[in-house]
Order: sequence, then structure tokens, then C-alpha cells
Amino acid sequence: MCGIVGYIGKRQAAPILLEGLKKLEYRGYDSAGLAVRAEGGGVSVVKTKGRLSRLCEETADGARLAGTCGIGHTRWATHGEPSEENAHPHKCMDGSVTVVHNGILENYRELREKLTRKGYVFYSQTDTEVIADLIDYYFKKYRSGPVDAIARFMSRARGSYALAVLFSGYEDIYVARKDSPMIIGAGRGEHFIASDVPAILKYTKRVFYIDNGELARVGREDVAFFNIDREPVEKQSVKVTLDENAAEKGGYEHFMIKEIHEQPSTVELTLNAYLSGGAVDFSECNVDDGFLRADAIVVVACGSAYHAGMTLQYVAERLARIPVRVELASEFRYRDPILAKNTLVVAISQSGETADTLAAVREAKARGARTLAVVNVRGSSIAREADRTLYTFAGPEIAVATTKAYSAQLVAGYLLSLEWGRLAGRLTAAQIAEYVAELRTLPQKIKDILEHKEDIQKFAAEHATASDVFMIGRGVDYTVCLEGALKLKEVSYIHTEAYAAGELKHGTISLIEEGTVVFGVMTQGGVLEKTASNLEETRSRGAYTVTLSFAGEKIAADAEVALTVPRTDELFAASLAVIPLQLLGYYMSLQRGLDVDKPRNLAKSVTVE
Ligand code: G6P
Repeated sequence: MCGIVGYIGKRQAAPILLEGLKKLEYRGYDSAGLAVRAEGGGVSVVKTKGRLSRLCEETADGARLAGTCGIGHTRWATHGEPSEENAHPHKCMDGSVTVVHNGILENYRELREKLTRKGYVFYSQTDTEVIADLIDYYFKKYRSGPVDAIARFMSRARGSYALAVLFSGYEDIYVARKDSPMIIGAGRGEHFIASDVPAILKYTKRVFYIDNGELARVGREDVAFFNIDREPVEKQSVKVTLDENAAEKGGYEHFMIKEIHEQPSTVELTLNAYLSGGAVDFSECNVDDGFLRADAIVVVACGSAYHAGMTLQYVAERLARIPVRVELASEFRYRDPILAKNTLVVAISQSGETADTLAAVREAKARGARTLAVVNVRGSSIAREADRTLYTFAGPEIAVATTKAYSAQLVAGYLLSLEWGRLAGRLTAAQIAEYVAELRTLPQKIKDILEHKEDIQKFAAEHATASDVFMIGRGVDYTVCLEGALKLKEVSYIHTEAYAAGELKHGTISLIEEGTVVFGVMTQGGVLEKTASNLEETRSRGAYTVTLSFAGEKIAADAEVALTVPRTDELFAASLAVIPLQLLGYYMSLQRGLDVDKPRNLAKSVTVE
């Protein structure tokens, strides 16, 4: 949700900023802008509406903005429509403070009124312009320098922000952070600022993590950190292990299809990290039996991570017989949730920055629960705030619609379920070893599905004009439908509904018309026939039906199309059944000529509520 970058050093800033913004464009892409300080002179700003390529054109790939210090932004609109005016950077009224911002200033109306009374006039509808003016106000009123002015702003601000600020007459870049991600990269005689590590990997792997409520002065040679009381804070840089190429397309046409193809390795890496022989071993993450043993599990997550949590619920309850509740983080945080004694709260998040999931972790901690994060991005906020973190090994995921990170989350859920089963005395070591052996077959089976992706491509070509799609299933299959439907909606904009097959009759079946495409996901033996009947019910009302089942399974439904995936244990079926549905989303989007990696209105990392 909005990406920010900054550079200060000896090189020309603008091309480096544009390079960084390209890596962050997945965070927002309705407008973009740069501010560069000319040598010994003022700060020039260029902003454009639309994709980043427009800003590159406008600045001749940065050549038109000379200077070795600057900040940049790619926007996902919150306050004010996408327009050149509302794009960042924003300047204060007299132009002496220039700001890029990620987050939402919640009390911006009240602050805007205050500033209006003080004579400030606003040119945009953004909360960020208010930030620039408020910092300017404190800067001029107290005359105690940039750190003091920003700290005063932080004391007055409600909401979330990652800020990079330039002041006229000051060489350095000033940054501050609360509940929005930001890191500082350290090079030789230069420093980088970014919302996310991939934006600076090309230049350095040494980063400083700036904590919540902290601010920093970033110079060419040094960085100084402060807390909100302006007291210095000591910090060491850490080396990140990400590979720069991991965030490139590597010969694929889009990130989404590249990431779909990376799933065998994602699943394998995540399994390898936590399996030792035929058993699960979380010792690397300091997650021991005492921490995991719980009377109840509550999963909090958003989007696809929530769907991975739904699968975890079915699997864990079956294997361990411990009650598992899955909640949308945005609901959990505000509904005064009841957490029984000895509840373990599991927060699932690819980015580790989703505002609602982070808030849910805080809420759970405040209520005395233990918190375990299942997170993909190292060092992210949720990973740092939860009591323990199980990392998934998906590597950088760039396409807005998640695929490989979701697959890794499923695996983490299976491994946790096996552990809870062991702790509950419901699984013997031999049974666990059998499940583990089956899990180890998943990467190859995913590869096998991907080898037949042309079947899905062909299906997409024939049905790209579909206006309504339904996906029905029961148990784990229902959770696959939820994720499959989300993929199709996100990237192909086709209205798709996921339904628990047994629930269809209670209203939704009235939407089935001649030619409506209905998928029946059918991998769960005990309820196969039930779903088959539900699919038949739609077919007899004109639906065009598609079954998705294990190869070799006898399905008691006359469908128009039969898709299969290799057989696995039913509990792990989501990992295979979801693959054709991800491919379906991808190919439908291509057929419809859409921007598959950057679907309209979406952002990958949702750092606002
Ligand atoms: C956004 C993304 C989804 C993602 C969700 C949760 O909406 O578009 O793909 O599932 O956020 O993100 P997280 O990083 O917490 O997994």
C-alpha cells in the first residue's frame, strides 16, 4: 500500500529512485512522483498520474532531475482520487518541507482545521499534505530542527505512517515510522530508504530496521536514530539473505505465472526447513512443545492468508481434535473477542505488514494470549511483534495476487497440525512419519499439474467471456473454492462465488442460469457424493459444470469438463487442487487482456485498515 524510496549518496538519485519504485510498484500504482535536491539548491518535484512508466517518460528515466539526494513514491489512493495533484511528494505551503508518506493520518481533518486557522492553504485532498504543513508549522514555531519538528508531529498524529522528509537548508533525509513498513539500506558513502527490501537489493544487503515510533536522520556517511523523545537510539545493521534475482521475472511473461511455477520449490523449502527425518522440528524458530501446547487455537489473517487459515482449521481439528477458530483480522480486532485460557493465536501473513493482522496480534497479546506468526517476509512488523515466528520460504512475492506464499502457508498449517496432533496424543510417531512422507510428494505432484497447464489455458480461452462462475465444495474443498474464487475475481474481474456445496440451495442456486460455469471441487472422500449431487442440481438448471478431483476417482456427476490432480492424502488436497484454479485466474486474465500482476484497485501489502 504505497511504496516509498529514498537515496542519498554520490550517484544521481533519480534513476536509483525510479529503479526502487519499479520494485515497489506492486504496493500501489495509481500515481507516482519524485523529489530531488539539486546540488546546493532547491528541491524539484515531478509527479504523474498512472503507472510508473509515465514518470519515467516525464523525467527521461530520471535524467531531467539532477541531484544526489531524493525521495520517491508510488501511490495507492486513500485520501483523494488518483491525480497528479494528489500524488506524492507533497510540499508544505512555502515549499520548504517535502514529504512522501505511506499510511493513513487518521486525525488529518482536525489537524487540517488547526493549520487552516493558522493560515495554511491546501492544494490537495490528501492527508500527506497536512503532514508536510504540520511538520513545517512545528519547524518554524520551535526552531529546534528537523528531528524535533518530526517528533512533535508524531506526538500529534493518530494513524499509521512511514515518512521520508526533505527540509530546505538541510542536506539529509529524515524518516519516521509507525505501523507502516520502512527499512534503511547502508552502502559506502550512501544510504537507501525503502518500504521493502527488494527495492534496494541491487545496491546493498545491509539494512537497518527502524522500529515503531522511531525516527532517523539519514546522511551520506551515517544514520542517526532517535526515539520520540529525541533521545539517540543505538542500532546495528543486519545482512539480509534475499537474492536479487528472486524479485525478477526470470524469463516468464508475468510474475504471477513465475510464482505459480515456483510453488514446487516453495513447498519443498518450507518442508525442508521444518522437517527432520520423519518428524516436524520447529526448534530453529524456538517454537517448543510448551509454546505450542494449547487448549484452543485462534487463527487471524486477511485475504488468501485467511483461506490458508480455513484449511488449517479443517486439518488441525481432524488431526488434533483441538478447537480451532479462524477469524478475519479486521473483525477480530474490534469485536472484543473471547480468548479462553491457554489459547494460542496464530497470525498468518505473507507480508507481515497487513495492518489488521498486526493489530489482531497486538489485541491478542493485550488479552494475554500467546502469539505465533506465520510470515514470509523476514523482519516484518508481525514477525517482530508476535511472540514467535514460523517463517515460510516463498521468497519475494511480487504479483499482487498471491500464489506461492499461500502454498507455503498451507504447508506451515499442515506441519503445525501434525505437531498439535502429536501433543494431543492423537498421532503416533509412525503416523506422523507417514503424513510427512506424503507431504514430501507434494512438490513433484505440483510439478505434474503444471506440466499440463495447457488444459487450463484452453479452458480459459473457451470461457473468457463468462460473466459468473461458481465454485462449490465441502470441507477442505470448500477452502480451496474460497481461494480459487478469489484468484479469479482478483485478476480476471469475473464475478465468482465460492460456496460450501451444501449451502448452495439456501439462496444462491437462484443465480444459476443457462451456461453459468460451476466448478465442483471434489477431493474429500466422505462428502464426494454429496458435492456431486449439488453439482448435478446446478447442471439440471442449465449450468456448465466442471469437476476437479483426484485422478482415477470415480465421480458420480456428468460434468462437461473433468479436471484432475494427482492423488494425495485428503488433508493435503488443497495444495494440489488450488493449482488449476490459480492457473485459471491467470489465463482468464490474459485472455481478457488485463494487467495480471497489477489488478485494478488492489495492493499487495495492505498497511491501512
Ligand atoms: C492483500 C493481498 C492479498 C493478501 C492479503 C493479506 O489483500 O492482495 O493477496 O492475501 O492482502 O496479505 P498478507 O501479506 O497479510 O498475507
